[in-house]
Amino acid sequence: MPSLAAGLPPKFDAREPAVLADPYPTYRDLRAAGPLCRMGPASYGVTRYDDVAALLRDPRLGSEFPEQYHRMSAGDGPAGRFFSRIILYRDPPAHTRLRRLIGKAFSPSLVRRTRPRIERMVDALLDPAAERGAFDAVTDLAFPLPVMVVCALMGIPESDDALIRPLALDLSRAFAAIVAEPDRAAADVAVEGLRAYLGDMLARRRADPGDDLLSLLLAAEEDGARLSHDEIVDNAVFAFFAGFETTTNLISTGCAALLDHPDQQKLLRDDPDLTPGAVEEFLRYDSPIQGVARLVREDVEVGGRAIRAGRVLVLLIGSANRDPARFDDPDGLRVDRSPNPHLAFGGGTHLCLGASLARVEADVAFRALLRRFGPLSPGAPPVRETGGTLRSYASVPVTADPR
Ligand code: HEM
Repeated sequence: MPSLAAGLPPKFDAREPAVLADPYPTYRDLRAAGPLCRMGPASYGVTRYDDVAALLRDPRLGSEFPEQYHRMSAGDGPAGRFFSRIILYRDPPAHTRLRRLIGKAFSPSLVRRTRPRIERMVDALLDPAAERGAFDAVTDLAFPLPVMVVCALMGIPESDDALIRPLALDLSRAFAAIVAEPDRAAADVAVEGLRAYLGDMLARRRADPGDDLLSLLLAAEEDGARLSHDEIVDNAVFAFFAGFETTTNLISTGCAALLDHPDQQKLLRDDPDLTPGAVEEFLRYDSPIQGVARLVREDVEVGGRAIRAGRVLVLLIGSANRDPARFDDPDGLRVDRSPNPHLAFGGGTHLCLGASLARVEADVAFRALLRRFGPLSPGAPPVRETGGTLRSYASVPVTADPR
């Protein structure tokens, strides 16, 4: 088998300004050049759909990185330690146990029950926009909604939203390969603040349970196993990150895509029942999470090349979702695309636990936009957010006549 030294794969720097602005032409060149690209010392990106889909399910790859990896990215403080404990970065058997118990609480019925509240939140957020006939899809809708939803899910009073939101934002900045020093300090404060807040809340739920997610996490039990206080607190803190910017980006990206493709907006407006499929297409077209990292635990082969244990593979979801070998017209936005086996929520054992919640939030948001407004037009060019680790917008100005 050829080793990596023979004919090095091309380099890929995800932080290059041109890539941050628009990674898709680069992904196209990388996929054409081969199944792998070099991303850093002992770290390779996987470019093609079939490989990414298979590797997401491959038990020879792990998500549990040595503790020094998290310390290197996020520092020695509470944030670095927090990352090594959450479900996202655990492998079996710890992951299997956490996933069963958290999955029990985070059930489809909880999401279904939450939908009417999400509808009320979206309507309240859009009321001022309807009066003005103009709004910013990010600041007026996509940014505030997900934190409101996660707070509601956990039974946190709306008045505390303003306390939680800046902490959740600071924490999200720490989900990067290398976190800048000031962001590390802010992330440490955020982890401590959110842990203290949710720890108190959890103690109150223990004495007086309700039907919120924290109470369900306390009650979750399988084969006599339960989650400890710290496991619940850590993973509830993680839900604030996991469910926040990702969903913000899905809604912002979808709005920007509809502004950019008036024909697709018209299709959706003529048939709002296309909305769930349109949401899947937004997820494929500009995936909020562009890549997930895995530690190679046993040697694997990618596209005929040996990758040794100890290396890091970054599964490039954003590239896989534009692979012409899997999708017709991969660079085109088609709200009626079917089937649409995109990988935006990952796959295998770490498949996103909040996917159904994110789908409901986006479905409610887009249905409300189409119901309450006439055609949506760009108010000004959208502005990309290039500082974060996710694919996102800082602003998507929209003008639209209320109906
Ligand atoms: C559009 C919105 C979202 C996207 C694109 C997204 C994407 C993802 C992806 C790609 C993964 C897998 C990461 C990996 O394999 O390393 C993941 C995991 C996860 N997501 Fe999401 N997510 C979204 C929304 C949410 C929401 C709303 C929540 C909860 C409030 C959530 C909770 C989680 C959790 C707990 C995991 C870890 C699962 C595990 O490790 O077993 N996500 N998400």
